[in-house]
Amino acid sequence: MDKLVVHGGSPLDGPLTVGGSKNTALPLMAATLLAEGTSRITNVPDLRDVRTFSNVIRVAGPAVTFDAGTHTLTLDAATVNHPVAPYELVKKMRASFYMLGALMGRCGEAKVSLPGGCAWGPRPVDLHIKGMEAFGAEIELEEGYVQASAPGGRLDGGSFRLEPSSVGATINLLLGAVRARGGSRIENAAREPDVVRFGEALRDMGAQIDGLGTDTIEIQGVDRLEPTSFRNTPDRIELGTYMLMAATAAEPGRPVEIREGTHEHLGQDFKDCFAETGVDVEYTPETVTVTRPEHLRPVSIETAPYPGFPTDLQAQWTVLLALADGTATVTDTIYDDRFKHVPELQRLGIDISVEGNTATVEGGNPIKGAQVMSTDLRAGVSLVMAGMIADGTTHVLRVYHLDRGYEDLEGKLRRAGIDIHREEYEEFEEPARETVS
Ligand code: EPZ
Repeated sequence: MDKLVVHGGSPLDGPLTVGGSKNTALPLMAATLLAEGTSRITNVPDLRDVRTFSNVIRVAGPAVTFDAGTHTLTLDAATVNHPVAPYELVKKMRASFYMLGALMGRCGEAKVSLPGGCAWGPRPVDLHIKGMEAFGAEIELEEGYVQASAPGGRLDGGSFRLEPSSVGATINLLLGAVRARGGSRIENAAREPDVVRFGEALRDMGAQIDGLGTDTIEIQGVDRLEPTSFRNTPDRIELGTYMLMAATAAEPGRPVEIREGTHEHLGQDFKDCFAETGVDVEYTPETVTVTRPEHLRPVSIETAPYPGFPTDLQAQWTVLLALADGTATVTDTIYDDRFKHVPELQRLGIDISVEGNTATVEGGNPIKGAQVMSTDLRAGVSLVMAGMIADGTTHVLRVYHLDRGYEDLEGKLRRAGIDIHREEYEEFEEPARETVS
């Protein structure tokens, strides 16, 4: 098992470079199954989730090759002859559930495992299933699998309203609708940049879609889609994470440059809150330059679907509040209980408490290094952030969570001035109990 060892106190100088987006690459990979032939996706991050999804896709028949050196994925979907996504793989990554829409769109049938539980409370896929039924699928749940089929081998299309708005369900319904017999409409659709870029790729393949980026998407099904070559977007959550690292771990007054991110994808709410903390930030088409102030203002945030404040940046925001002069809150309206990082941040001395879906942070407490445990991707990176500003050494355990969403995090941070390295360790095993005779 790997951990990251962070020696606090060395300032972040930069520059940092943003890689390709995980949450856009995954639906792009699913989209390639809708065309008979070979598609290529560039700027794909070398992440555990990309490798897991490549394995899921291979089970269905396509050939998938990933060149980590050039960040290029090549998918040959001439053959999709086994429309199944097995539990063993789906349980590793929820987004594997995109195979439902991809296989329904390509084969008119699918057997896809339900994703299983999540640490943050219920994350159902009921909207994905009900939406697919509204588009004409016949669905049964059997032994933990969704068994779906389209009468006559092809979905009809239809209309469905998402409540709440859902990134994953919007993506799955688009995958099902683009090759349906008739037209479809998705109401209260997700407007996240990941969804828009994915929809643009489908259009490049020949799909007829209107309303991307709005809350109503109209699709006219077509008989065939063509393979394509497509450039993945930069990762907006990685960009936001680096901006928050610069605002907390850089020397006050010393600008840190972050390259190759698309700041428009952060959403206006995040940008407004970030500026309100007193950080100086400069946006150009290629770079974001962040200068930490002597004093950070405590700014409370509330997450919301795009263009609202991203839930995937709230854990990192709590660390900024730990350095701010005063008290502020973080409320997550997307997930009930996405605060698994809180007890770990408390171990580092941060004064933070949770009630319902709101965390309250009292800034200014001394932060001291300790052993802490990652529980998921964004919680894990908030622990690395806290370790960068702590006194002494922080050991962030179970970094396999971070490897799911940040490519070479410790390498990028080390090249930007942080004293951090990866080490193997043994998880503590219960000593064998002495049998008392
Ligand atoms: C995507 O998850 C992202 N994952 C998540 O990022 C992100 O947190 C989330 O969108 C919100 O922005 C990927 O893109 C792979 P949702 P997704 O469906 O699609 C409820 C990360 O750190 N809901 O938009 O699973 C759901 O419970 C990950 O990179 C239903 O009730 O999120 C949640 O409360 C973590 N029924 C809300 O909608 C459904 O059928 C939004 O979830 C579907 C969702």
